[in-house]
Amino acid sequence: MEPRARSRSAVTAAAALLALTAACTGGTVQGRPGASGLRDPYFPKAGNGGYQVEHYDLDLDYDPADGQLDGTAVITARAEQGLSSFNLDLAGLRVEAVRVQGAAARYNRTGNELTVRPAEDLKKGEVFRTEIDYGGRPKSLADPDGSEEGWIRTEDGAVGVGEPVGSMTWFPGNHHPSDKATYDITLTVPQGYEAVSNGELRSRTATDDGRTEFAWHSPEPMASYLATAAVGKFKVTTGRTASGVAVYNAVEPAEAAASAGPLARLPEMVEWGSSRFGPYPFGTAGAVVLPEATLAYALETQTKPVYSGAPGSEELVLHELAHQWFGNSVSPKSWKDMWLNEGFATYAEWLWSEDHGGTTAQARFEAFLAGDTEVDEEAGSDWAAFPPAAPPGPEDISGAPVYYRGAMALHRIRQVVGDEKFFDLLRGWAADHRHGNAGTADFTAYAQERTGHDLKKVWDVWLYGKGRPRP
Ligand code: TRP
Ligand code: ZN
Repeated sequence: MEPRARSRSAVTAAAALLALTAACTGGTVQGRPGASGLRDPYFPKAGNGGYQVEHYDLDLDYDPADGQLDGTAVITARAEQGLSSFNLDLAGLRVEAVRVQGAAARYNRTGNELTVRPAEDLKKGEVFRTEIDYGGRPKSLADPDGSEEGWIRTEDGAVGVGEPVGSMTWFPGNHHPSDKATYDITLTVPQGYEAVSNGELRSRTATDDGRTEFAWHSPEPMASYLATAAVGKFKVTTGRTASGVAVYNAVEPAEAAASAGPLARLPEMVEWGSSRFGPYPFGTAGAVVLPEATLAYALETQTKPVYSGAPGSEELVLHELAHQWFGNSVSPKSWKDMWLNEGFATYAEWLWSEDHGGTTAQARFEAFLAGDTEVDEEAGSDWAAFPPAAPPGPEDISGAPVYYRGAMALHRIRQVVGDEKFFDLLRGWAADHRHGNAGTADFTAYAQERTGHDLKKVWDVWLYGKGRPRP
């Protein structure tokens, strides 16, 4: 109904109703609940709508002996709409108190959603602070593909890993890659343990009660799946790359000997990556080597990838490093865009090999196309099984085609546009979306514009086509 058509009494009644609503919520009438998920095509409940996080300040105490985690998460966020309530993702654990802008807030939990109702509605554009006191024994969770992620205990410690949704097992947050934020992660552990996280170690302090507090700082934006915390009796070594990037390696002692070789060239790899892809996006680099078989995979956790036992090869270290440009600095808009992470990181391995007297990317491409995947011992299952930009389901987002057919798609572009334009494209892509998010449509449009080539056939055959690409 047009307001003009309303009778005077109807207008008065509506005004009275509005006043009543305002009185009931105790705030402005503008607030409404933020969405409980971001409708990711594969993980629809992941993340939350109505706000964007600017900073996470996590203060966590962990006891490796009994697996107890106690923490406070202070989340600074900006409201993107008027909010009467908003959600955070949190799996398990006990919430003890929630405060918003310093005032106690009501909250309730259903599934992995923590709904917070501030005492006063938040205004659109308002930057607000939410503090959550929480604790318990975090549990890991099983991904649709059967792999385990989240908080995982080891014999004398634990690690938090979060691809795609496991970070909600150890801290409340907006757990979708489209919401990146800076972090301070402070870990307090019993004396004798090391505690490692993303970014730079600002302080290491002995507490009055005989524990050690490690304050880690990540000044560059990070998607929450890339946050990590690792507790163990690691052997720590530090250094610098030629251009001054600080390197911090924390290695499980039993894995130290086997890790030395694969990690030795990390500083050189950072410099090589900078020459190929543009400046290294972060102030620090490194690695966390966990006890053997802690995880079934390595993960490119920001600035410090985690390895399950000694990295199996130099190529694996290169792969996780390459993610710092592709995945961590340029992050996917949704979990459908995983090939932008894995295809690029795999292609980076091919380039490293080519640049260091090994198999050329062209030779790998031809071998894969001919059905010979021996050149890559990791290639296991069929690289052509599905189109990398459209995995059939959430259980496929880390499938072989996302890695290998994704890498082959990049090589096809290189074949069409030539080396000069191809390497310019890689650098341009990393620069254009540095510390941001991008999806497949952004990439295909950018690639055509940057190279001046019509690449539609490459997209149709390699990224979206169901059939097996033919030589
Ligand atoms: N993204 C990781 C890498 O490429 C691998 C990975 C993380 C993974 N979680 C997974 C692979 C779950 C399979 C299943 O380094
Ligand atoms: Zn990867």
